[in-house]
Amino acid sequence: MIDYKELKSQFLLRPDITYLNFASFGACPKPVFKDYQDWQLLLETEPVHFIADQSLGRLKTSREALAAYVHCDADDLVYVTNPTYAINIIAKSLDLQEGDEILSTDLEYGALDRTWNYYCRQKKAKYVRQPISLPVTSKEAIIEQFWKGYTAKTKVIFISHITSSTALRLPVEEICEMAKAKGLLTIVDGAHAPGHIPLDLSKLKADVYTGACHKWMMTPKGNTFLYVKKDFQDRFDPVIVSWGYEAAMPSHSRFLDYHQMQGTRDFSAFLTTPAAIAFMKEHNWEQVARRCRELVQANYQRFCDLVGSTPVCPINDDCLGQMCSIPIRTPHPQQLHTHFFEHYKIEVPVMVHGPHVFLRYSIQAFNDQADLDRLYEAVGEIMGRGSCF
Ligand SMILES: Cc1ncc(COP(=O)(O)O)c(C=O)c1O
Repeated sequence: MIDYKELKSQFLLRPDITYLNFASFGACPKPVFKDYQDWQLLLETEPVHFIADQSLGRLKTSREALAAYVHCDADDLVYVTNPTYAINIIAKSLDLQEGDEILSTDLEYGALDRTWNYYCRQKKAKYVRQPISLPVTSKEAIIEQFWKGYTAKTKVIFISHITSSTALRLPVEEICEMAKAKGLLTIVDGAHAPGHIPLDLSKLKADVYTGACHKWMMTPKGNTFLYVKKDFQDRFDPVIVSWGYEAAMPSHSRFLDYHQMQGTRDFSAFLTTPAAIAFMKEHNWEQVARRCRELVQANYQRFCDLVGSTPVCPINDDCLGQMCSIPIRTPHPQQLHTHFFEHYKIEVPVMVHGPHVFLRYSIQAFNDQADLDRLYEAVGEIMGRGSCF
């Protein structure tokens, strides 16, 4: 039996806030945060040794633990601060010719839409945001709509494993499989996947994959990985040219040298991955995650009924993880977010995506039904008072 009260006490979050926005920046449990501070303390006791170790032991140990967790070779991933950084490495170096197309969806994360727009503009390539209509009716419908954007000029696909504002689990397994059969490079934005849904890079046909450890794996902020399949590693230059380029003492891997070896930076967060994995193991995380998914799903229709909308997808594990997005109508999304926080002490994002606005709640170990009931009451009260929805 998991003691959820005890588990809740393991987090550092303010007890007076109903925290329903784990998905944005995660939340780090006390033992993992302690591990982080221990690394930082060690750094300050002997900065030279610690920083010189950048390409050596400690990062290697952390990469090995992460690689075992996501099922890949430890030399096929490097740590970076965030998924946008990882995709910038890729987009900047990608060999695109004028007219080449990158097939994506219109559900992608804003910073990465911007990244692809920027580099595609430079290379005169085209970033295709293929529309996926909402509500999604099935996995098959997503796949069919996605491939309608495919042309003879498509060279690359880029797709989220779990989307940001719509909180949808996309069928990337099937889409990558089909893309490889067409000879395309497959790039997956798995920012939300590790620690959230099962992730096996040895089976997924992604040539490039980025996942944030500081979200659902619960490490401190600034811990993300970039995985690149061996065959493609030499295609990508460092986004920051530093000591790993023309390395004085090259390691066995140019990929590691280019993307891992930098000057002065505090990479303590990267080292906390083993502690985060240990925390999840110790607390039977598969069971915790199942309970969270059940809570998400049991409440989704109820919220949609309250605001007079419909879920963005079928309510099942194929489409949803530990978060969901309720379509709402409001002319003032930012004010609504602030109002939830200031008036009700509820941290819940109100997300604008194209013409849509969503109230997205995420559920983690420290949440329970009472948190969602509090949100439900707040939504009902705001609606009763006026025009916010
Ligand atoms: C789908 C998705 N991709 C990527 C990111 C990356 O975020 P960052 O801005 O930290 O790079 C996020 C963050 O929430 C996200 O939701």
